[in-house]
Amino acid sequence: MPTKKINANLIAIVDILNDLEFHDGSSIGAQLDISRNAVSKFIKRLKSYGIGIEAIKSKGYKLLEPLILLNPDLILPKLKNSNIAVDIVESIDSTNNHLKAYYDSIKPRVCIAEQQTKGRGRFNKFWYSPFAENLYLSFQYRFNKELSELSGLSLVASLAAFKAIKPFCQSELLGVKWPNDITHDNMKLMGCLIELQAEANGSCSAIIGLGINVNMRHDKKIKDISQSWTSMREISGKYIDRNQLAAELINNLYVYLSQFEKEGLSFFMQEWTEADSLFGKTIAVENKGEEIAGCAQGINSQGQLLMKLIDGTVRSFSSGYTSIVKKHAS
Ligand code: BTN
Repeated sequence: MPTKKINANLIAIVDILNDLEFHDGSSIGAQLDISRNAVSKFIKRLKSYGIGIEAIKSKGYKLLEPLILLNPDLILPKLKNSNIAVDIVESIDSTNNHLKAYYDSIKPRVCIAEQQTKGRGRFNKFWYSPFAENLYLSFQYRFNKELSELSGLSLVASLAAFKAIKPFCQSELLGVKWPNDITHDNMKLMGCLIELQAEANGSCSAIIGLGINVNMRHDKKIKDISQSWTSMREISGKYIDRNQLAAELINNLYVYLSQFEKEGLSFFMQEWTEADSLFGKTIAVENKGEEIAGCAQGINSQGQLLMKLIDGTVRSFSSGYTSIVKKHAS
């Protein structure tokens, strides 16, 4: 799918309108050195993405809600590693799909989109990706490791994201949920979709796709999400600038993936245990059509989930969908 890089004038118009006051087309045009007609086209484009803008002939345009678009000028200077290529696009089918063209690239590459038209979740589910509300970010990284040595990668990616999210949402209820979610009070905040390709020379390329619910709120007419979810805005009570979050996330992912490549999962065991939202809870694991309940006991050195069954035995799982079993008052 052809990709449209995010447009600098679109970003600048939203910046001007972000004071939530009226601005007329001519004055916006004058500030950006573009015609009133061009401004009107950009406004139409924003409306087509679902952005609420009031237009009154005598007054101009007014944003109905705070909005800051993804902006390369606010992300790229904050990156600690200049060797990462970053594509910031307006609309795309899926950021994971975009990076598949770069599977054999040695240089790490990131794709971030304002909107995904075919965002994908685990188990072939659709990932709801409305324009400019959340973060849809994929990171391509080539490991000098065999495919079989990458078990635990999803846990490490979740920990990198957890570290980026935490300063924005100080809460004891924030945690990682095996194998690769971040939750708050048992509601989903982030999901991760990893796609891998083994290379002929024994190395292996990974595309790590992260979807973080950032500014999405329940008062919008959202019908496409089946699981219970929350967002960083709902947790913190504040509109979040996704540029700052994206930069933190890219920096953390690079550090965590390099560390994982050198040291393996053992380096992260303690960090996982501290952030594990399932530990000690009664949970159910859905795996290959069966559902098994037990008490979560953390992970083993391969990143498998450990669960104590009712007969006292401990069973390990390498994949599956986990949920906390709510205790009903008797
Ligand atoms: C899940 O089911 O929990 C995983 C969701 C992963 C969504 C992200 S959004 C960025 C990247 N692009 C996609 O199409 N999916 C991932």
